[in-house]
Amino acid sequence: MAEDLIERLLSAAGTARDNAHAPYSGFRVGAALIDDLGRLHAGCNVENAAYPQGVCAEAGALSAMVLAGGRHVAALLVLADGPRPVTPCGGCRQKLREFADDALPVLAADSSGLRRRYTLGELLPESFGPEDLAMVKR
Ligand code: THU
Repeated sequence: MAEDLIERLLSAAGTARDNAHAPYSGFRVGAALIDDLGRLHAGCNVENAAYPQGVCAEAGALSAMVLAGGRHVAALLVLADGPRPVTPCGGCRQKLREFADDALPVLAADSSGLRRRYTLGELLPESFGPEDLAMVKR
């Protein structure tokens, strides 16, 4: 992936993370993605006093993309400061799968920069996706 693209993702995810609402966990996360038109969309985690209602950063970035009319994720970066590189939770891996295939690059970063690169296929192997419903009569 082009270096300038990674820089744009890092910058957008860092800004998003700075705006996270994470008073309960104290774990602030930013996510940024590029859609198929080359547009950048970002999200941060938004926690809630009713804990299960909290939303992950990745889900926010996906919502921003869909709102803008995007329907395909070309690359995603997650930024958080943890003891090891943070990858999307199980639920967000499935949410990403709705708008991407196995080849999707998923980058894990922290404040010091890019830490690890994965693909969605590595993080969610043998996944269920939209194609699996293609034969259903509606
Ligand atoms: N979180 C994310 O936003 N994305 C991830 O990839 C991992 C976890 C959030 C959810 C919750 O607000 C906090 O991090 C602690 O789990």
